[in-house]
Amino acid sequence: MSLFLVTGGGGFIGSNLVEVLLARGDAVRVLDNFATGRRSNLDSATSWAKAGGGSFELLEGDVRDLATCRRAVAGADYVLHQAAIPSVQRSVMDPVGSNDVNVSGTVNLLVAARDEKVKRFVMASSSSLYGESEVLPKVETMAPAPISPYGLQKLAGETYCGLFHRLYGLPAIALRYFNVFGPRQDPTSEYSAVIPLFITAIKRGTQPTIFGDGEQTRDFSYIANVVQANLRSCEAGPAAHGGAFNIACGERISLNELVGILGEFAGRKVQPNYAPHRPGDIKHSLAGIEMAQRFLGYDPDVSVREGLRRTWESL
Ligand code: UD1
Repeated sequence: MSLFLVTGGGGFIGSNLVEVLLARGDAVRVLDNFATGRRSNLDSATSWAKAGGGSFELLEGDVRDLATCRRAVAGADYVLHQAAIPSVQRSVMDPVGSNDVNVSGTVNLLVAARDEKVKRFVMASSSSLYGESEVLPKVETMAPAPISPYGLQKLAGETYCGLFHRLYGLPAIALRYFNVFGPRQDPTSEYSAVIPLFITAIKRGTQPTIFGDGEQTRDFSYIANVVQANLRSCEAGPAAHGGAFNIACGERISLNELVGILGEFAGRKVQPNYAPHRPGDIKHSLAGIEMAQRFLGYDPDVSVREGLRRTWESL
């Protein structure tokens, strides 16, 4: 049985990883300080572990502390590093606090993982590092040009991953997530992502607010595809080590189309509010996923529409 450390395991993406790992019988340790993650996301972890025949352990602590990171990594075969202060907007409000967690926290974990000689270190990076270049699709050979502290922090984190591979032979892989959505994504924060915000507004019978004209597009990525990318990264051969890969669906929809689909689920026409464009927002986002397909064997098998349906039912 392999031991997986999931940092940020109390968060949306982390807890979905924990659930799948436990269901297939792995041993999972979570490191989380519950700054943005939620304890309730792990309420069922013990029963998932029982059903799968694996084991679950929670270590409450902060990635900004190297000693905590060493304790968390001790004995781990794989590290899935999801802990972060998410949200582009939040990083604009708090560049220092987000940098401490997103950059220094990542370096701490890399040092701990290097010394523990883990089999794989997989880091959650972000499409936001591409910035506002209008060229689509975004491919990994493009020069990153972040326009937010968050994008820059994720670029720093994945550059550290590449460097730790080159300097110390750490088999690290960075996954550039594109607008992930799905069950357990927090709909309650002012920094929440658009899909949980829209679903809860529509279910409540209030109008969702679109910033801008609603013609901006995103390559929304359903969580099951992201989980698959992490698991395949743990098995990917040496050609992938030290690399960074786009993880998305390879399709994009506009916010107006998104509201239309959610309106179909609600069984009525939804009329959104239109508010001014959000500063720092990029217009279009679409991923090329050929590199991930080739080097990781990534194969996103849940479409946006199907993912939206499952998320609608979960919220
Ligand atoms: C960005 C990144 C994403 C990253 C996330 C972390 C890009 C393309 N994507 O997402 O990979 O994981 O940051 O925070 O850089 N919106 C509304 N109404 C709302 C809320 C949002 O219209 O109530 C709009 C936003 O203005 C934006 C779109 O919906 O145009 C998506 O916003 P959001 O879900 O916050 O994600 P991004 O900032 O695109």
